[in-house]
Amino acid sequence: MTSRIHSGATPKQIATDLEPLLAIHEQGISLEDLKRLVRDCLVPHLVHYEHPGFHSLYNFLPDEGAAFGAKLALEHNQGVTNWQVSPGGVMLEELCCQMLCRLFGLNPGADATFMYSGTYANHQALYLALHRKAERCGFSLAEEGIAGFPNLGRLAVVASEEAHFSIRQTLRMLGLGERSLVQIPADENRRMDVRRLRETLLHLAEHRDVVAVVMTAGISSTGSIDPIGPVIDLCEDLDAWIHIDGAYGFAYRLLPEYEDHFSRAELADSVTWDPHKQLGVPIPCSVLFCRRREDFERMALYSGYFNREGEIEPNPGLKSAPSTRPLSALPLVATMRHLGLEGIRKRLRIPLEAIRALAEELAGEEDIELLNEPDLGIVCLRIKPPGFPAGNLDALQQYLYERTMNEAERSISLTEINGKTALRFLVVSKTVTARSLMETIQYLRRLVPEFPTP
Ligand SMILES: Cc1ncc(COP(=O)(O)O)c(C=O)c1O
Repeated sequence: MTSRIHSGATPKQIATDLEPLLAIHEQGISLEDLKRLVRDCLVPHLVHYEHPGFHSLYNFLPDEGAAFGAKLALEHNQGVTNWQVSPGGVMLEELCCQMLCRLFGLNPGADATFMYSGTYANHQALYLALHRKAERCGFSLAEEGIAGFPNLGRLAVVASEEAHFSIRQTLRMLGLGERSLVQIPADENRRMDVRRLRETLLHLAEHRDVVAVVMTAGISSTGSIDPIGPVIDLCEDLDAWIHIDGAYGFAYRLLPEYEDHFSRAELADSVTWDPHKQLGVPIPCSVLFCRRREDFERMALYSGYFNREGEIEPNPGLKSAPSTRPLSALPLVATMRHLGLEGIRKRLRIPLEAIRALAEELAGEEDIELLNEPDLGIVCLRIKPPGFPAGNLDALQQYLYERTMNEAERSISLTEINGKTALRFLVVSKTVTARSLMETIQYLRRLVPEFPTP
């Protein structure tokens, strides 16, 4: 184990170190020289996600089963857009999607597809939502585009103010623009406030058409889960697409103790899930679930040379945009088969227990202000030394974050909770323990006296 998480070098130093690797000459170099070069130029600057002091983002190393699956996928470099390019890969993806739908308790008519990332899964979900809205307005979005809507300005997508920025990105890319987003205030724990949602929907009913309501299971700042059941009930009679962005949090539907959080999630029209976040599988591995298999037909684009209309073999490339698609199903299936359901549940609980234990241990500490009750593996806090000027607390958190990142012995993140600058501890790794988290707290406390008081 290295004591640093990465080299801590500046962008300029890293660029200088990488120059020899990028000097592509007429003549190549031996594999031995190449390995040495990469080891010297690049590897020192990569991040050690397995380091017990890494608790800032959703990255970890692949578990053994996943690493085996990924190696095999690489050896065969299979594409899985259509039957012709990989019958085995295609069938594995199709069956894996069905297996996941069953495992997550979705309805028998549900289906899924693999995506490059959660962002693209959210994008596709909202494209499908908009397509359905267009059908109800009597035209095909695929053919006429958004120009077919008689009054584009009426269209609204409703999401919590804490929804991930990929939702805004999606609205840009769909041509609806960010102004189509109607944000619902979040409660203290940053969950969507259902009362405010009810009020907003009543208000919108008079002059807007709601295309979709987006919930988040695993808010980026606090890991909180929006109140899925109550929102689904509230939207029952609303002619809108219901999407759950569970990029981070949907995995926890597999834990019986989270049943209440995910009640009625199977009634959502679509759900995003990123196994590459906390299931120890290599990037990219994202999944988009749809409640009705036929919803994916809105993505189909047939061609004369493959993915031909009427073919009886499955062609996963008809369910999502990319033509070249990786065999992401293999590392996922391999790790799930290797761990078994019991092992998966155990693996998912490790970070949750570490974060909960940290929050409990810090609850009575006078120099700590806890800013959320963790639903999942994230806790946000402020170091608040007794007597420290209140007006400098935001600057103190910013300073502690910057010092930590520059010294590169630990990794935390910075966020804002209810207008306060906060330190965010996020755990997906199985090597982070309550103890290593406490060591980071001690480390931060030691830095406090060095804060340059303005
Ligand atoms: C809630 C949520 N949605 C979407 C995304 C985007 O996923 P990806 O990074 O796989 O594009 C993230 C990423 O952190 C997320 O936390």
